[in-house]
Amino acid sequence: MTDKPRRLLPMLGHSGGSRDAMTCLYRCGNACDHPVANRSGNAYLADVVSAELSRRGVIRAGAVGGLVLGFGAAAAASPAAAAAPVAETLSTGRTRAGALTFQAVAPNTRDAVTVPPGYQTSVVIRWGDPVLAGAPAFDVRQQTAARQSRQFGYNNDFVGVLPLPGRDDRALLVVNHEYTNEELMFPGFTGPDALTVEQLEVAMAAHGLSVVEIERAGRTGRWTPVKGRHLAYNRRITALATRFELTGPAAGTEALRTAADPGGRTVIGTLSNCSGGITPWGTVLSGEENFNQYFVGADQAPEAARPGLARYGISATARYPSGSRKWDRAQERFDLAKHPNEANRFGWIVEVDPFDPDSTPRKHTAMGRFKHEGANVVVARSGHVVAYMGDDERFEYLYKFVSEKKFLPGRSQLARQHNLTLLESGTLYVAKVTGDSPAAEIDGSGKLPADGGFDGRGQWIKLVSGNKSYVPGMTAADVLTFTRQAGDAVGATKMDRPEDVQPSPRTGKIYAAMTNNTNRGVGANAPVDEANPRRANRHGHIFEITEDHGDHTGTTFSWQLPIVCGDPAAADTYFGGYDKSAVSPISCPDNVAFDSAGNLWISTDGAPSTLQTNDGLFAVPVEGRERGHLKQFLTVPVGAETCGPFITADERSVFTAVQHPGEISGATIDKPASVWPDGGYAKPAVIVTWRPDGGPVGS
Ligand code: FEO
Ligand code: CA
Ligand code: CA
Repeated sequence: MTDKPRRLLPMLGHSGGSRDAMTCLYRCGNACDHPVANRSGNAYLADVVSAELSRRGVIRAGAVGGLVLGFGAAAAASPAAAAAPVAETLSTGRTRAGALTFQAVAPNTRDAVTVPPGYQTSVVIRWGDPVLAGAPAFDVRQQTAARQSRQFGYNNDFVGVLPLPGRDDRALLVVNHEYTNEELMFPGFTGPDALTVEQLEVAMAAHGLSVVEIERAGRTGRWTPVKGRHLAYNRRITALATRFELTGPAAGTEALRTAADPGGRTVIGTLSNCSGGITPWGTVLSGEENFNQYFVGADQAPEAARPGLARYGISATARYPSGSRKWDRAQERFDLAKHPNEANRFGWIVEVDPFDPDSTPRKHTAMGRFKHEGANVVVARSGHVVAYMGDDERFEYLYKFVSEKKFLPGRSQLARQHNLTLLESGTLYVAKVTGDSPAAEIDGSGKLPADGGFDGRGQWIKLVSGNKSYVPGMTAADVLTFTRQAGDAVGATKMDRPEDVQPSPRTGKIYAAMTNNTNRGVGANAPVDEANPRRANRHGHIFEITEDHGDHTGTTFSWQLPIVCGDPAAADTYFGGYDKSAVSPISCPDNVAFDSAGNLWISTDGAPSTLQTNDGLFAVPVEGRERGHLKQFLTVPVGAETCGPFITADERSVFTAVQHPGEISGATIDKPASVWPDGGYAKPAVIVTWRPDGGPVGS
């Protein structure tokens, strides 16, 4: 136990962001140390884009789409029933906006999970626990890729819980494994160059997703994995060996073809799976985020490929220094000098059908390629499905996808098969926003403008629809594969690292976490604006979107910032106008979720560096008199980030992912900074928190 996060050995490559240096290295390849990837001026820059594409050699004759800057403009009876549908969302007004009744957890630096009085918490599953039948018992000194491929992976992030049809005591737990931290996994670790190929493959097998059947413990809110030999749904998806199918307009196109896959339609593995969402038809979406850090050799990639690589943070000037993952030693495809298109096959939204363990997971090109945090789907009044998505890097953009086809309700096999195709074709938009206060009143200090709020209007700018591009100089496939450049071309608004984006099932309003951006308004970087109003934004904010007429398929919206994070005692924070003496400090909002009462739950990633406390999970009403009354629900152990969360529809269980416990610079598995949850050394794990009295969590 320790009261303060320990600082052990100094570590090279620490960045100016809001995380520990070790997190920076392994999570995002020290993104903060690299130049800002978005160098666009964000005016209408068709000529620049054309020049860039021309350099990449990808302009095709007749491919220029029309310019549009007009801003006005369940298997059979199972999964569909099983999913927690976000479905028709515009039941305005009828929110249960009562106060959250739990006693807020005080900020702390304990090496433990701390929950409110009257709540209990336990580990559901941890790194190394068996997932597939016959998985060997975990032995950290005997790990092999074959063993890890049957065990729960590392660094759990997204958490989804999908009830099995007709049962309230069985469910499928679907979890992302975003990345690995070799220092904390391999005893005797001395550096990435010393890892054996087998160890590299262990790390690759510890990435991906897990599907685990879980059961309720008695009638409580506690859940545990089902044990036995016949675990029909359990599955491991890895970066090592799982085959994915590319769908949509960019599948099979030139930029996605490689020597191993000349057709450009099949990819091995998934990388950096961060957050995600559950669809109304009972599948799971997962965002491939910091895929750039897995590749070497960009400086020796063909000249034409380099701008496209650089825009995604893949260095065109140098191989990564010592500290890169060196996966090219295990699989040559990670060397861009030899396989320059391999990086283009990551950065997609992945769809997994957990109810069909034999199904091939898919990467949907129609939803664009960027550093996807995740995707959350809502069914619009028209029946089209709409996915809201963030690109998590400094000065990147917010997006939405509107399906071409309409959602088919019902539980028939026909409906399910149809709904499984919804994300394969549609229209992709990027957000441009403006504020309604004079620019002089947005001074970077966080002081509210005279009209009392950071707020304004926004447009969804159409980038591509089916096979038709709306970005001059780019084909539809270009727009989908190099979506960041498309956003640059149409003048999208540079945001402060858009993370998870979640529609409220109660009001239809959309909530996006802007986690932080210490470069905002600094030096030559983009200045503050009303949507990103603080200079050197360390603590982040919540961005709330209200689509005009409640139409998720529309192209105009209004927005405001209901929460500007940080220490409530500081002048630059805002909590919906609520009495700030009654709210918890919060920094670096990351994942967001709703409970069925309409409260917003927010997990954080960065509080140890910005507030000198452990990260945590918070809940806040967003409607009525309690709007802004944010309270801390739990804290996670030393060095950990809080992920998930998932609140079950019966409001009896809160699932949370405890990611990278003990990830403190200089710590190793032999010299750990955390020993949660089992002692000895740290293991990432999914936990569940419940009320023994059976009452609803939160409210
Ligand atoms: Fe993997 Fe955007 O956090
Ligand atoms: Ca305003
Ligand atoms: Ca995240």
